[in-house]
Amino acid sequence: MVHLKVDISKAVEFVTGEETARFQAEISRHRKSLYNKTGKGSSFLGWVSLPGSISESLFLQLEGDAAKIRHMSDVVVVCGIGGSYLGARAVIDALGNPFQPLLPKTHKSDPAIIYAGHHLDENYTARLLNLLDTVNYSVIVISKSGTTTEPAVSFRLLKNHIEKKYGTAEASKRIFAITDANKGALKNLATAQGYSTYVIPDDVGGRYSVLTPVGLLPVAAAGFNIRKIIEGAFAMETHLRTSENLSENQAATYAVARNILYRKGKTIELLAGYNPSLNFLIEWWKQLFGESEGKDNKGIFPAGIGLTTDLHSMGQYIQEGLRNIFETVLAIENTQAVVEIPVDPADLDGLNFISGKRINEVNRMAKLGTMMAHIDGGVPNLEISIPDLNERNIGELIYFFEMACGLSGYLLGVNPFDQPGVEAYKKNMFALLNKPGFEKESADIRKRL
Ligand code: PA5
Repeated sequence: MVHLKVDISKAVEFVTGEETARFQAEISRHRKSLYNKTGKGSSFLGWVSLPGSISESLFLQLEGDAAKIRHMSDVVVVCGIGGSYLGARAVIDALGNPFQPLLPKTHKSDPAIIYAGHHLDENYTARLLNLLDTVNYSVIVISKSGTTTEPAVSFRLLKNHIEKKYGTAEASKRIFAITDANKGALKNLATAQGYSTYVIPDDVGGRYSVLTPVGLLPVAAAGFNIRKIIEGAFAMETHLRTSENLSENQAATYAVARNILYRKGKTIELLAGYNPSLNFLIEWWKQLFGESEGKDNKGIFPAGIGLTTDLHSMGQYIQEGLRNIFETVLAIENTQAVVEIPVDPADLDGLNFISGKRINEVNRMAKLGTMMAHIDGGVPNLEISIPDLNERNIGELIYFFEMACGLSGYLLGVNPFDQPGVEAYKKNMFALLNKPGFEKESADIRKRL
């Protein structure tokens, strides 16, 4: 049984039941391509059966290393970019306490997770290294290719720092590498230094890798239950695999609705969360759909908003700007914490009309009110909801989005599992930095500057 629900009824003016039903045959064909590995990008479909195939020995290795990391670290630095960064951060931010790094030491049982290798900012790097002078830490370095510049630069600095701080032998016990089984600079380095190493399966692309050690080791080190995440993902895998009928298959329903909207000129999708802890899940979703669909001069542009915060910045545009937007609300029904708005006898702020109500009730009304306003303004609304923000439901959500993205990419007619466009900036950067092998590109680009 799955807990996640998809509701497209609020977009009925743009997506009718009849239109949706016409996609049944096409969806069946694309589902077959995904499960039989016969469609575009078929060598990168390892994620399809991943949740059901994680072995007990891998769980034990991940949990064992996570326990070691937690024991020896106040801070864990997770070094990676793109698919080797966003998934772990999405889950850790969604489940974690945002104030955890500020808690007094006596109240802390979990290490703080901080990130490196996801940009090239020198100030951030300097401050990070200064912080690491003062705390006990370990490093999880993640790169499938093992050659991506941003994490490679960052890891060179981290390796240098940790070896100076602890000595080479102890440093090697504090570094955990997640990379390709055989190739790449990181693989060579990890083997030479004897780091504890995990493999990213060949047939799982970066943005589909959160349910491999890429996401699971940092998440376990942060103190979350990775078995529950996989349990949720597996429940969703099983449910989607057995739901041939489009109206029962949530991933297909979402994929079809967004493609109908796209064909009607709604070229931008806003994924809207009403909980700040979802902000990085939205970032992960942006990468998943943006990198999968934005090619061949087509694709829905995935944008994210955090509400109600962004109603005070983007709200005007969404309500009355160019009508090329649709919105998908990512709703969490319940909160674990309870905070009621107190009564104030003087009522000088005029808020007694909501006194006694929980903040979540006010948030729910804000969500409903916003949905109605946006629908009235010509912004079709879809809703994806889970009852609670916990490990199991996050697992469902991750697998749901991955399958929806694969189906949606096939409906769009692109290969959702490659990313040829990402190479363009790298080529220019290497040319400008005079990387050996880029002499001709270097001469060409300098003429254009
Ligand atoms: O989804 C992808 O393939 C990319 O976003 C990669 O994850 C990103 O470029 C990082 O690559 P790597 O893991 O090889 O360092």
